[in-house]
Amino acid sequence: MEDASREQWGSRLGFILAAVGSAVGLGNMWRFPYVTAESGGAAFLVLYLVMVLLVGLPIMLAEFSVGRGSKKSPIQALAHYGGPGWKPLGGLFVLTGLLILSYYAVIAGWTMRYTLAALVEGFQGVDAAARFDRFAAGLDAVGWHLGFMALTIAIVVGGIKKGIERAALTLIPLLFLIVIGLDIYAATLSGSGEGYAYYLQPSLDALMSPDVLAAAAGQAFFSLSLGMGAMLTYSSYLSKEENLPQESLTIALSDFGIAFLAGLLVFPLMFALGLSGEVGESTVGALFISIPGAFTTMGGAGRVVGFLFFGALFVGALTSSISLLEVVTSSAIDGLDWTRKKAALVAGVGIAILGLPAAFSLDALSLVDQLAGNVFLVVGALMLSIFVGWTMDDPIAEVRKGAGDVGWFPLWRQFLRWVVPALLLLVLYYSLQDTWAMITGMIG
Ligand code: TRP
Repeated sequence: MEDASREQWGSRLGFILAAVGSAVGLGNMWRFPYVTAESGGAAFLVLYLVMVLLVGLPIMLAEFSVGRGSKKSPIQALAHYGGPGWKPLGGLFVLTGLLILSYYAVIAGWTMRYTLAALVEGFQGVDAAARFDRFAAGLDAVGWHLGFMALTIAIVVGGIKKGIERAALTLIPLLFLIVIGLDIYAATLSGSGEGYAYYLQPSLDALMSPDVLAAAAGQAFFSLSLGMGAMLTYSSYLSKEENLPQESLTIALSDFGIAFLAGLLVFPLMFALGLSGEVGESTVGALFISIPGAFTTMGGAGRVVGFLFFGALFVGALTSSISLLEVVTSSAIDGLDWTRKKAALVAGVGIAILGLPAAFSLDALSLVDQLAGNVFLVVGALMLSIFVGWTMDDPIAEVRKGAGDVGWFPLWRQFLRWVVPALLLLVLYYSLQDTWAMITGMIG
């Protein structure tokens, strides 16, 4: 049943950069540095890397084996290997994609607005908190949200090779260059040493608790875009020759690299400008209030640095968003027999409308983020590891194609059966607790 008309990536590099683009996003630029600084610095960094290898890589490889093996979008892919009873899991993937993109595009809209604000006003004039209030919710946010969705739709309509791959080949190298450039700049600021110390000071005490373990595992697979079929979908456009374990490692390490480099940028910047009191704020808002506040005090340099910083955030958000829309689009192409253009347009406009509450209210945005980003993704990843670990006939046979016979493959399957589900249950337990606290906090 090989479908000759199915699109394919033009090159190996194109696939890798598209997958790195999906992985690298707002989660790398703010969530990672913040979680690291809070949870034990350099010690957490080591734990995080272990989690990337223990949880991230096995799940990514699981998504790749289902995607490339079936060459289908998530719902059909799961039914292909597991029968129609597994279709609801594919449905959960699509639903999660719809929900995540609906609010992710609102935040991405802010990054566009901030990039423009850097260029035009150089962050002068208004107080940073007042600016955030104006941009983050209301008609301003709605406008940029819709503009960002239009851009995302346009790229996905372009197709795998001419849309997504071409965007990734230009934008991802640019993103790496900007972040490295800003890192070098941040190193020259006086007071940057304190920022590095805050970020990386190893604390073994912080490591010794199950919630830090859960935070590391959760951050690892959120950052790698796992648990909703994005990597599954991208790998369904691969040819047979690729070495899947090797590609997984390259993608995971690139994602880690950008997250690490982002921390080397965010903290020196805030400390050098005397904003250390504000680094404790975990909300997305801090990224859009404290850091622009820093740019204001930098004067003319703040204009250039601010433009590059928010431009990088925007690029990261865009390449993640196209992978989210592609999951929904490919499902509509395969399941409803729609053309790519119709599928991307209908899905994209639907998601844009779904995101309107998040564009009007920060509470609505955080709630959808918590539910979809921290609960649905974990459930999706948990079920997928059970699927590939227990139900799928012979996932190792698929991985062997292009990789040869490697000794640890049977170990990979055992991991998916036991270790990954156990760790994800731990993550789920803490996520549900957080979700409950958030809901009661909003009602109370
Ligand atoms: N990995 C993205 C980030 O770090 C966020 C994300 C989570 C994501 N799951 C995803 C992006 C699925 C695309 C698809 O910001």
